[in-house]
Amino acid sequence: MRELDRIVTEARAALAAIEDPDVLEQEKARYLGKSGKITERMKALALLSAEEKKQMGVLINRAKGEIEKTLAERREAIRRAALSRRLAEEALDVTLPGRCGERGALHPVTRTLERIESLFASIGFTVADGPEIETDFYNFTALNTPENHPARSMHDTFYLLDEEAGKVVENALLRTHTSPIQARYMRAHVEKYGKSDPMPEIRIIAPGRVYRVDSDATHSPMFHQVEGLWVGESVSFADLKGVISDFLRRFFETEELSVRFRPSFFPFTEPSAEIDVAFAHGAQKGRWLEIAGCGMVHPNVLANAGIDAERYTGFAFGFGPDRLTMLRYGVNDLRFFFEGDLRFLRQFS
Ligand code: DAH
Repeated sequence: MRELDRIVTEARAALAAIEDPDVLEQEKARYLGKSGKITERMKALALLSAEEKKQMGVLINRAKGEIEKTLAERREAIRRAALSRRLAEEALDVTLPGRCGERGALHPVTRTLERIESLFASIGFTVADGPEIETDFYNFTALNTPENHPARSMHDTFYLLDEEAGKVVENALLRTHTSPIQARYMRAHVEKYGKSDPMPEIRIIAPGRVYRVDSDATHSPMFHQVEGLWVGESVSFADLKGVISDFLRRFFETEELSVRFRPSFFPFTEPSAEIDVAFAHGAQKGRWLEIAGCGMVHPNVLANAGIDAERYTGFAFGFGPDRLTMLRYGVNDLRFFFEGDLRFLRQFS
């Protein structure tokens, strides 16, 4: 009997020291397992008389019950301890900001293009498009720049290599300007409406990427242009000046802007001009900055597209929207826009 008490006390002490549930089950076996201390006592009952068996049996069962109760308590305590440890480890600070995907934004040049499109849309221009891989014909010839014309040398561009044939693809180049869209659009327009009298007006702008072999702070081998074209029965240089001046004031959101048309030369316009602006305020205050080329569409260009140059006239212009973006945001190196550095680009989103 004493011995049973001793076993129970020993078991209690042993179990109380255990932290690991597996170790706890092993320890249980030492008392209640097949050859555990309590089990052994049970087996020994067989040797006793019926009366002794009864008495002893009660005591052993009580001891067994004690140990089982201790075990159950210990299991529960270990389970709780493990749970609170996990809760502490996996504690969630619900006040921390979430990890969400980054939000994209439009590139500053794309914003400028959209702005230009919507300003011109408000005065009845639609947006036209053309291929970036252009033919020699549309990039030059249709625009009154025949082969060997010196103006071609100012448009040094990229040609395409046919790797299998090991030679340059004939009659294909990366367009050097958006002006070929003029030529393409006029041809398509004549095909559609050439027989109407009068022919409906053409009023388009054509934004896009263009390419030249050029690279410094204000030139990139890839840059953007926005072409504009208005052809009709009585379109004049005065209309050109009005449309451009009004556009620039709206684009820069200031009335305090001087616009100058400086005589120039382009093979596809006659007369031709360079458009300069000067701001009354800001870092560039008072300096004339060149931002576009323009002019009255050359009669040869109209005729090349099948338009009667005696009856219809038109003006055209080509803006550098990258330049407009630099001026609008006060950025002095064009290359920043095309390097893809998010630290720079984020400032505009
Ligand atoms: N295509 C010319 C260039 O890239 C810009 C230009 C000038 C376009 C005059 C025009 C224009 O439509 O009329 O330099």
